[in-house]
Amino acid sequence: MEIRLKNLSKIFIDKTKKETRAVDDFNINFASEKLTGLLGPSGCGKSTMLFLIAGLHEPTYGRIFFGDDDVTRLSPDKRGIGLVFQNYALYPHMTVKQNIMFPLENMQVSRKQALEETKKIAELVGIGTMLERKPAQLSGGQQQRVAIARALVKKPRVLLLDEPLSNLDARLRLQMREEIKRIQRETGITTIFVTHDQEEAMSISDEIVIMNFGKEMQKGTPQDIYLNPDNLFVAKFLGNPPINVFVGEIKKNHLYFQDKKIFKKKAPDGKYYVGIRPEDFRVATDEEGVVVSTDNMEVTGRDTTIHFMANDQRVRALVESDTIMGKKEVVLTVKEDRIHLFDMETELHLDNYLKLNEKEIEEAKELNRHLKELEEAHSQRKAREALASEEAEMEERRKARQAKREEKRAKRRAAKEKGDE
Ligand SMILES: Nc1ncnc2c1ncn2[C@@H]1O[C@H](COP(=O)(O)OP(=O)(O)OP(=O)(O)O)[C@@H](O)[C@H]1O
Ligand SMILES: [Mg+2]
Repeated sequence: MEIRLKNLSKIFIDKTKKETRAVDDFNINFASEKLTGLLGPSGCGKSTMLFLIAGLHEPTYGRIFFGDDDVTRLSPDKRGIGLVFQNYALYPHMTVKQNIMFPLENMQVSRKQALEETKKIAELVGIGTMLERKPAQLSGGQQQRVAIARALVKKPRVLLLDEPLSNLDARLRLQMREEIKRIQRETGITTIFVTHDQEEAMSISDEIVIMNFGKEMQKGTPQDIYLNPDNLFVAKFLGNPPINVFVGEIKKNHLYFQDKKIFKKKAPDGKYYVGIRPEDFRVATDEEGVVVSTDNMEVTGRDTTIHFMANDQRVRALVESDTIMGKKEVVLTVKEDRIHLFDMETELHLDNYLKLNEKEIEEAKELNRHLKELEEAHSQRKAREALASEEAEMEERRKARQAKREEKRAKRRAAKEKGDE
């Protein structure tokens, strides 16, 4: 069953009347029976989106459909959703079995049937042998499996997972990722998986939706959004090591960096943000390209990362180690279709930008200005918070020093008094 959002918005208004558009005019479909990753930086509105779909928040505008049903006004318990959060929130005094069975208690299900369902689900998530244990006797990963089983036991139409793995250590996360993917495939439940970890989203999702400041930035398969980012934000958000970005100029179908002709690239003349992923560089034999010294290299087995400076900016290129063996200098080049150009005012990928009409360009400019303002306000707030916490720390240390001095003085006084006696 597909989930459709129509003009969905959630605006929070705080005490000072300041508006936060946590979800801002979303029009998308979450594919039926697939796992969609909802990805974006902290505070971009991921949890708010899940809460809206779950019915725990009421939208400010817009509608939500499950298949053909309009569920916008439906209470959470009538929507047929299973929810899993970061903190597993199991009942500590109940056994695993009782925890999983709990959601069935208020339903018209016989005890026998409830037990059968519980056992089946417990097997599915891999905790079939632990039904009599209490949560405290389980590892973090096992507890999270119980939480997933509890969400699944009611046979929900939709499974909503909000950063379900972020309390687990790195190795367990990897393992649970695979497990969630398998469980989703076996049950075929339409699933939304929230994460701010791009690698997690890329590895687990059939499709990914990327958000920023409540806005949809792109939706597509992991491969598609990685290779064909719609805008500079998505290009920068995906990839580790990150994409290299610099300002370049196109003249007569060649890319120039600071008046130096570097690569062939067919595009209208003008200045652009240029994005090149580290792994898209190649060591070339011909003249056209960037000449770099191999002084600053980091060999990591089969691959080597070459670092070089372009103006004041560090650029990373990932090449196969044997292509540079024994060389002092190499020429780096990039396949033409791997050079991404972004319009500087809208920050849209040039391929998208060229399809827009004048009105759409104006709208895209406006949106980008709006996002830049939010980003500026966000980083100022962060800087203020950092400053405040630094000052608090200094004050703390000053107090500690003073307390120590007073303690010493008191000791000396006591010793002196003892001597006087
Ligand atoms: N109940 C609320 N009242 C006011 N503002 C809220 C409320 N809940 C969320 N917000 C704001 O809405 C924005 C989106 O928050 P949300 O929790 O959805 O982000 P998120 O993407 O889940 O972030 P994180 O990755 O940190 O969990 C934030 O700016 C947040 O401060
Ligand atoms: Mg969240």
